[in-house]
Amino acid sequence: MVFCAIIVIVHIFFITYVTNLIKQKLISNSNIKLNNLTFKIMNKSKLFISLFAFLVSLTFIQCTSEDPIPGPQGQDGTDGIDGTTTCVACHSTSHREPIEAAFDESVHNLGVLNSDGTRSKHIYGTNTVFSDGSLNSNRAFCSECHSQEGYKDAVEYGKPNPNGYAMYQSISCEGCHGTSHRSFDFATDGNDYGLRQVHAVKQKITPTNYLNASATGATSTSNTCLSCHQTRPDSNGFFKRPVIESNEKDFAGNVVINNTTSGLTYKFWSKRTLALAVSPYPAGTTNYKAYANTGIGVHESTSGDLWMGITGIDIEGTTTHLPAAKTGAHYKFASCTSCHMDTPKTDGSKGSHTFDVSFNSCKACHTNPESLLTTFDSEFDTKLEELRLALSAKTAYFNTSSSGKISIKTTFPASISSSTNTTTWDVSTEFPLKYVQAYWNYKMLLGDFGKGVHNPLYVKALIQNSIEALQ
Ligand code: HEC
Ligand code: HEC
Ligand code: HEC
Ligand code: HEC
Ligand code: HEC
Ligand code: HEC
Repeated sequence: MVFCAIIVIVHIFFITYVTNLIKQKLISNSNIKLNNLTFKIMNKSKLFISLFAFLVSLTFIQCTSEDPIPGPQGQDGTDGIDGTTTCVACHSTSHREPIEAAFDESVHNLGVLNSDGTRSKHIYGTNTVFSDGSLNSNRAFCSECHSQEGYKDAVEYGKPNPNGYAMYQSISCEGCHGTSHRSFDFATDGNDYGLRQVHAVKQKITPTNYLNASATGATSTSNTCLSCHQTRPDSNGFFKRPVIESNEKDFAGNVVINNTTSGLTYKFWSKRTLALAVSPYPAGTTNYKAYANTGIGVHESTSGDLWMGITGIDIEGTTTHLPAAKTGAHYKFASCTSCHMDTPKTDGSKGSHTFDVSFNSCKACHTNPESLLTTFDSEFDTKLEELRLALSAKTAYFNTSSSGKISIKTTFPASISSSTNTTTWDVSTEFPLKYVQAYWNYKMLLGDFGKGVHNPLYVKALIQNSIEALQ
């Protein structure tokens, strides 16, 4: 008994010593910004700690068998998974190499491909501040989807650091993964792959709502994707989904949707004033900023919304209506990960961590998915062009650029580049609500580069509904 106690104490000291040693090594390595390297060191050491603790616990078992009266034989438990083979099969270097190679090829790592063949990497994290200490550009807001640091904080604390980040990088292994398994009973609980976000995610445009990639309300690896690939508001919180329920207010706090003699209207406004206080930044005393709700419309991250069949607006007074939310076959029976992280093609390209569709999983339901997609894409382009022309025809409300880009037609003052120029203004213009809603739907469709494939029935109805609203 005494002997066992000594062994236990010695082991505890030894574990503490080794753990500290590893932690120190980790801290000294945390300056290495080559994230993959840090990640590998972290993995190996944590794995090592787990396996070590496991081995130590085996020695404890021998210390508890001194009872002289043997009890009745216990029942055989169900066989556990084969620890070493299962763990090693997935944690071995040979298994990781093709995953790392795939990730190197992914847009998350390289940035989006432009029409001229170049790439643009969109990573944001550092706020800029005016000379009077007030907030100029709120990049902390963007960071939760456009940097690993912001994403990690948003998952852990519900929001990114409002001060932004001096150093930041695009999402990598450690961003999406980076936590330990919630359960090692993979057979019963499934494998969470050490992902940070497998539970339902907060909806950015309505933070009291949660979105779940699982149709049955369970956990889902695709919630990782939904946390970033969803619609967002503007960074000042002024531009929202243009429906009465959003209760969107202008700068002065008045609702922007009003019931007038000519029907429901939506007010676009712009106000130039001293920069607002945004915690932890003070209000401006000498620096001015223009605030508006004309913004960008919906952001280029609508894939998740269309896939779930939400956020589009079923405009009143139309005959074509939208299918109910979460009824699309691609939501119910497929997922972000099943389509985008599929088994690679036979030449090893696409699928897995390239996040590029390999079309293998489609074959369970479609005989020739690639040609089906080509046909559908061109149908989508034709229908969307019809909607673009319908918006463009409303020349009193929309501008059409030489390249065909549609924007809101307003007569607001031209922006002033110097923030210390003391000019102020407060202007607004009224639009028929249904035109603003059709514009919102158009921007949603345009924002998903999947061209409608995420929810074919929903997007077809959304386009038709919007065209009808403009007639
Ligand atoms: C199907 C693949 C898979 C299997 C099987 C698996 N893991 Fe993991 N495990 C992962 C992934 C993916 C991560 C996320 C971090 C990474 O890539 O190492 C992870 C993370 C971990 C971590 C945390 C590492 C860190 O960086 O925080 C530990 C510890 C771990 N696994 C131990 C085990 C053990 C022990 C077993 C066997 C009982 C096991 N894993 C089986 C895929 C797997
Ligand atoms: C809710 C998450 C989220 C937030 C917040 C967010 N973005 Fe994005 N953004 C995305 C996603 C996802 C994409 C990639 C969409 C794609 O390529 O399909 C993207 C794409 C972009 C693009 C490229 C668009 C294109 O045409 O390829 C730019 C530029 C951009 N974001 C800027 C910003 C800025 C600036 C902010 C902060 C004001 C911001 N984003 C906030 C999710 C977000
Ligand atoms: C954008 C988020 C994201 C990033 C970045 C990412 N992963 Fe994953 N990873 C996932 C998701 C989601 C899954 C689960 C896929 C599924 O449900 O089938 C996964 C699964 C895995 C698995 C288990 C499945 C398998 O194929 O064996 C391993 C191992 C893994 N990731 C390693 C990595 C490594 C290594 C990196 C960096 C090179 C990385 N991941 C980067 C999201 C990510
Ligand atoms: C931390 C936020 C974040 C997470 C999590 C995330 N993405 Fe992304 N994703 C982005 C951003 C931002 C871009 C654009 C990258 C850039 O421009 O640098 C992007 C790009 C993409 C692209 C390429 C888009 C294009 O225009 O070519 C695909 C496909 C994609 N993501 C799928 C996924 C899937 C599937 C998941 C879940 C496994 C996922 N993403 C998880 C933020 C995220
Ligand atoms: C039924 C399969 C399927 C599901 C489910 C699915 N996607 Fe896609 N997604 C596609 C296809 C097909 C494309 C078009 C890509 C192509 O032509 O290679 C696409 C395109 C995209 C794009 C545009 C960039 C690109 O690669 O062209 C993004 C971003 C994206 N999907 C993200 C997601 C996210 C996030 C989810 C989950 C919320 C999701 N997808 C669910 C099949 C799917
Ligand atoms: C679980 C079955 C299933 C899987 C897997 C699946 N689909 Fe579908 N797909 C459907 C169903 C059912 C429809 C009809 C629309 C609906 O019910 O939402 C559809 C519709 C489509 C359409 C529109 C066809 C049209 O002309 O209207 C395209 C394109 C498409 N799928 C492509 C794909 C691609 C590409 C993949 C793989 C990345 C895929 N699907 C995976 C079941 C599936």
